[in-house]
This record gives sequence, C-alpha cells and structure tokens, in this order.
Amino acid sequence: MSISAIIAAAGSGERFGAGFPKALIQLADRTLLEHAVSSLAPVVEQIIVTAPAGFEKQISEIVGEGIIVVTGGASRSASVRNGLAVATGEYVLVHDAARALASTDLAKRVIEELQNGQVAVVPAIAVVDTIKVIDTDGFVVSTPDRASLVSIQTPQGFKTSALRDAHLSASEATDDAALIEVRGGKVKIINGEARALKITTPTDLNTALSFLGLGVDIRTGIGTDAHAFGHGRQMWLAGLHWPDEEGVEGHSDGDVAAHAICDALFAATQLGDLGSNFGTDRPEYAGASGTQLMQETYSLITQAGFSISNVTVQIIGNRPKIGKRRAEAIAAISTALHGAKISVSATTTDGLGLTGEGKGIAAIATALVYKR
Ligand code: CTP
Ligand code: MG
Repeated sequence: MSISAIIAAAGSGERFGAGFPKALIQLADRTLLEHAVSSLAPVVEQIIVTAPAGFEKQISEIVGEGIIVVTGGASRSASVRNGLAVATGEYVLVHDAARALASTDLAKRVIEELQNGQVAVVPAIAVVDTIKVIDTDGFVVSTPDRASLVSIQTPQGFKTSALRDAHLSASEATDDAALIEVRGGKVKIINGEARALKITTPTDLNTALSFLGLGVDIRTGIGTDAHAFGHGRQMWLAGLHWPDEEGVEGHSDGDVAAHAICDALFAATQLGDLGSNFGTDRPEYAGASGTQLMQETYSLITQAGFSISNVTVQIIGNRPKIGKRRAEAIAAISTALHGAKISVSATTTDGLGLTGEGKGIAAIATALVYKR
C-alpha cells in the first residue's frame, strides 16, 4: 500500500504574529515543519510540503533531500490541491505543519483504518466546552448536544482518488474531510491525541513545549553557612535582631540563615556564590547586613532572568529558639526577596558537632527558581 503525505505549511501564521511563516517557528530543537516531517517520515513513502510563495528554497533546505516542496495556494484547500497534484500514493495523509507534535502512532492508526477499507479517516478528540451556534447579530441560534461533538485534528487519511474527486470542485473547507462529507462520503473518526494540538498562538507553543517535557526551566540550589558565637556581638539571624542572644564572630552581621539563602539562590542560578559576588574584592559589601545581601542577591538573579519559586532555610543550633519568631523571620526574609515563598525551620543536633556543643550556629537553605 503506497502512501503519500501532504504537509500543509503555506500559511502565514497571522494569529501567531511571528512576522514569518508559522511552520518555521522553532519548537525546542527544530521548526514546527521539521517536527511534522519527522513524525510522518517513518510511515509514508512520499512527503510533499506546501510552502508559502517565496519560501520554497528555504523550506527545501530545512527539510532536506527527498522531500518535494510545492508552492502553496491562497487558502489551505488550495495548498492541499497543489500538493495532491504531485502525490503518487494510492493513499494520502494530509497534515498541518501547525500540528507539529502529532505522533507517528497517530499516523499509523489513521493508516490502519485505510488498510481496513475506510476512504476517509479523521482523528478527533472530545469537546470540553459547550458549543453554541450563533447568528451574525451575535445571538444564539442553538446549542448542539456536546456529546455528539468532536474537535478534529490531522493527519487525516484518504484514498487519494476520493480526495482528488472531492477537491475537483475547487471548494474551500478548513479540513479535507469536509469536502468528502458534502459529497456524501463516509468519514471515519478515530481517537486523536492532546499533543496533536494546532499551534495557533504563542500560548500554544508553551503547551507544546510542556508535551516535550520542556515547559519550564526549573533549577534548584543549596547553600550552607556556619559561624561561631562571639562575646559582645549582636545576634542577627533570618533578617531579625535577637537582642537577648549572644551574636557570632565575623566581619558581617553573621546572619547564617541569610547567607545560606544567598548561596542557595546563586547556586540555583549558576551565578557563583556569596564570596564571588560580595567577597573581599567588593569593599562596598563589607559589613553588609544579611537583609541587604538578600536584597542584592534578589536583584542579581532577577537581572539574570530568574524568578523565585520558593526558598527554605533550616537553622541548626541550640539557640536561639526560632519557634516563637518563625512568622516574623519568614516575613523578614520574604520582604527582602520581594514576596518570595519562604519557610523557616530549626533543629538541634543532639549535642553533636559545633552547633550541638553550643559553639556556634549553622543554616542550610534550598532555593527553587525558574527562568522567565
Ligand atoms: N496552510 C496552508 N496554506 C494556506 C493556509 C494555511 O498550507 N494558504 C496551512 C498552515 O501552514 C497550517 C495549516 O494549513 O500548517 C493550518 O492552518 P492555520 O493553523 O490556520 O495556519 P496559518 O494559516 O498559517 O495561521 P493563521 O490562520 O493564523 O494565519
Ligand atoms: Mg489560517
């Protein structure tokens, strides 16, 4: 059984608004058109791409040898007719480049139905919204029963001779099956798939990316800090002053929680660490408070294009007791990080190590960020 495929790629992509044809939009590592070609290539003998006038050469270079490129028409139906004119297969799949992620499996299932003797096969999925028929004045005419409605996709499969006959009248339709239907032909519906969505607007591209597991660029980072207690020092911790507590040694205010948080944010965003950003070669930060460092870290990661999903910090030590001021600590850190979601926890270490022996205090922080 010989099968041709026509990939309709001659649209201008008006609604997407890229300023160039939609089929040439990049989705992850390839253009929409290349995705469509690679899903059909394993199951058909001939691939014909309809290109927008003036883009034939560029599209030929993109799809490579062995794929026929024809100039599209003014409408999708006209483009398909131009493709049909050179199709040699006994059967033909007509596919939208805009449905870039339709799977090879879907094409195989369409072909199976053709092998079973169907003349026209269309993938479809259930409609989730209630659909209303309206008139030109914007009034509802009727509400068809949703259970009998489906939303159609491509690739659609046809006996080539039947589709040629249907196109003879040079009629217009937004899909090919419609031309078979009006002639009284039987069109078989099979289960479509969510990933065969038609990419129409930039939002659809995000949905398509999520089907590739590439929706959001999420990154995680960890940071730790520890300081020894020091006589006569003020205690600053988690952005708060603790007047009844002995503070820690160090040039800064010794806010281990703030320092661990900054390091976690730098780690997640691959922007170095506390030392490389605020170290001794940046004298303007000498003696900066933990709050100032968190504010400055926030602006550095924001400039690099990141947003914070959440930050957690765990304070390790016998004192101060965090519990009573936890809400205050969360508010102080969140304010420094422009409203980020924060959690603050505390633990002791059963008398072990520098924190357990009461010699100092430590903190471990994690940050989850995403690239905007
Ligand atoms: N198509 C085509 N020839 C046309 C118009 C559309 O080959 N004259 C193709 C498109 O390239 C697309 C498919 O038909 O792969 C479905 O059309 P649509 O999603 O409407 O794409 P565009 O027409 O490019 O987009 P828009 O309507 O927003 O301009
Ligand atoms: Mg269109």
